[in-house]
Amino acid sequence: MKKMEVGILGATGMVGQRFVSLLENHPWFKLAWMAASDKSAGKSYAEACQWRLRSPMPDAVRTMLVNECKPPGAPQLVFASLDSKVATDVEKQFARAGHVVVSNSSSHRMEPDVPLLIPEVNPDHLALVRAQRRERAWQGMIVTNPNCTTVGLAMSLAPLEAAFGVEKVLMTSMQAVSGAGYPGLPTLDIFGNVIPYIAGEEEKVEAETKKLLGKLAGGRIQPAACAVSAHCNRVLVEDGHTESISVSLRRRATERELIEAWRAYHSVPQEKQLPTAPAHPLVVREEAARPQVKLDVSTERGMATVIGRLRPCAVLQFKYTALSHNTIRGAAGAALLNAELMKAEGYLD
Ligand SMILES: NC(=O)c1ccc[n+]([C@@H]2O[C@H](COP(=O)([O-])OP(=O)(O)OC[C@H]3O[C@@H](n4cnc5c(N)ncnc54)[C@H](OP(=O)(O)O)[C@@H]3O)[C@@H](O)[C@H]2O)c1
Repeated sequence: MKKMEVGILGATGMVGQRFVSLLENHPWFKLAWMAASDKSAGKSYAEACQWRLRSPMPDAVRTMLVNECKPPGAPQLVFASLDSKVATDVEKQFARAGHVVVSNSSSHRMEPDVPLLIPEVNPDHLALVRAQRRERAWQGMIVTNPNCTTVGLAMSLAPLEAAFGVEKVLMTSMQAVSGAGYPGLPTLDIFGNVIPYIAGEEEKVEAETKKLLGKLAGGRIQPAACAVSAHCNRVLVEDGHTESISVSLRRRATERELIEAWRAYHSVPQEKQLPTAPAHPLVVREEAARPQVKLDVSTERGMATVIGRLRPCAVLQFKYTALSHNTIRGAAGAALLNAELMKAEGYLD
């Protein structure tokens, strides 16, 4: 199969670097174009980017030109990892110019005609782009993935919603510093500290989870009827968001049934064998002190949500811990899987 050329908006940032890394040797997509802010435009990628990943910068991108974030010259499919203030207008400009924008930013996630997608959880929501194209009269489209904290929560809830119905959810996060982008927080603010506030994060997690678990009917998403309450904290971890979750279900279930529902969970990406799909989207660890960031964050190349510590909750019904890699499953890997689903379902033809 001839590879499809793709671009990255925001290629120099934390998520942009993950895109560069995940696209190296991708079987379907070839990175052919990249863009970032005015301060980087005109430079080579090696000059413009403060590379922060442990794997080396791929040779093929070192001399690649960083462009301005403007549509002329960009390939049809662009992955976007721009700051949300910038993304609002730039992503619309690209969609208006006929590009398919597969975005990480929060700017358009909650718009009624924009798919907010986790390919395992709600692949059918992709159909919203038909209304988006019709109503906005543009040839392009915008498709989004959730906030990095929402992903682990929604993935762990999806099989519970399907099997038992989810009534109430309480989630407390311990979020990695890479989630704040580069250079991120000053050392003096985060070293030896826990910061109990991430602007806008709790509202995003609560609303996005309900949209993701919602049903597509009459061309619109009916959000799930569950109540979701989130407490979000920043901690001194490099990559990987850990979440303490309590849940009450609508139908009776045992701990064993929850574990079976998580372990049996697979969906369209696994059936279609999409290149970035994890074989096991949910991995349950039954040891007492797992999941742990240091041991489990790279499970399934960072694409799985790792669940553990399931036990009774005296306030809601059950409580457990979930871990998800924020710049892979929570960002670049999520967008890549979205694009793979779109290709497999004919949205990129
Ligand atoms: N980090 C995560 O775990 C994570 C997870 C999910 C979603 N996200 C979302 O993904 C997006 C990117 O996050 P990040 O962590 O990669 O941020 P980041 O490290 O700060 O990178 C931001 C990128 O945007 C570019 N940019 C900044 N201002 C611009 C402008 N005015 N015009 C054009 N480009 C501009 C930067 O280019 P220069 O290098 O030239 O400044 C850089 O490439 C955000 O919307 C974020 O909320 C992040």
